[in-house]
Amino acid sequence: MGNEDTGWVKVAITSDLEANTAYETDVEIDGQTVGVFEIEGQYYALGACTHEQGPLSQGMIENGTVTCPWHSAVFDIRTGRCLSGPAACRIDGSVLSTDSVDHELLQPCTTYEIKVEDNDIYIRLRVPTLAQG
Ligand code: FES
Repeated sequence: MGNEDTGWVKVAITSDLEANTAYETDVEIDGQTVGVFEIEGQYYALGACTHEQGPLSQGMIENGTVTCPWHSAVFDIRTGRCLSGPAACRIDGSVLSTDSVDHELLQPCTTYEIKVEDNDIYIRLRVPTLAQG
């Protein structure tokens, strides 16, 4: 199975973003809202958390990472790699400290190619295709 390139789609303008904050776009792919992030002048686009599809576009940004707002899994914004797995939730909705618990890492979240032209931010959409046979 390959990926068909369906072209570039405008998702934001640069003034929509503030440094070290996530921007939630209107673009959904497979039911997942795409988030755009700006880290040290570079732009990145991520899909949802790979635990239970939490919105990383609403996550907390720190040192190039985003923490999922639902159960605190941490992803590297530049690569999508999971750096810390989800924390257990207490009954009051707060999460256990991630310091003393050995968290299973999740699959990386989806990353999208991104480009900026004239202050417009685009991501490249690709849809899975079945191999010809
Ligand atoms: S949905 Fe993201 S950690 Fe659970």
